[in-house]
Amino acid sequence: MKTLLQGIDRVLISQEALQTRVAELAEQISADYKGLNPLLVCVLKGGYIFLADLSRALSINHAVDFMAISSYGNGSVSSGVVRILKDLDRDISGRNVLLVEDIIDTGNTIAYIMENLRTRQPASVRVCTLLSKPSRREVFLQADYVGFEIPNDFVIGYGLDYAEAYRNLPYIGVLKPEVYS
Ligand code: PRP
Repeated sequence: MKTLLQGIDRVLISQEALQTRVAELAEQISADYKGLNPLLVCVLKGGYIFLADLSRALSINHAVDFMAISSYGNGSVSSGVVRILKDLDRDISGRNVLLVEDIIDTGNTIAYIMENLRTRQPASVRVCTLLSKPSRREVFLQADYVGFEIPNDFVIGYGLDYAEAYRNLPYIGVLKPEVYS
């Protein structure tokens, strides 16, 4: 833990604040999807911890599935053109799908995935994201459930990484610029 803490500038969202907000989102989603047995789709890898906590906080029956994607292009800014590395296990026609993301930045990734999933005739597709950076948006996209709107900081922890590190932090932290610049 000592090494992990070295690159962190400050805590942006504490473990307690995350737990409280996840519980609130779960209550709202449980009410909205009552009797619908929704399918929660996690986009790997960043969403895995949020999905695990959200799923356990839901009071309704639901299923989970996973997609793994890889962005084309060079690196830090997503173009939204993605290659599906792992597709959903099951057909989603007629299902109420809730995409679970750790963060919406430009919005390109989730816009592409939603477009792709909508071709499969689901009953509905909605988005639940823990974090959103509205100032970075390149496509018009409003998530149905948003945990926190945040400024344009380099955030890590609770599933979010820098070079695959920091995902296991129990809070959302801001990385020191000297780590990534
Ligand atoms: C992150 C995040 C979203 C995407 C958001 O994934 O999980 O999928 O970027 O960015 P956008 O709104 O600009 O498209 P990342 O590519 O970092 O992969 P990871 O989830 O495996 O860490």
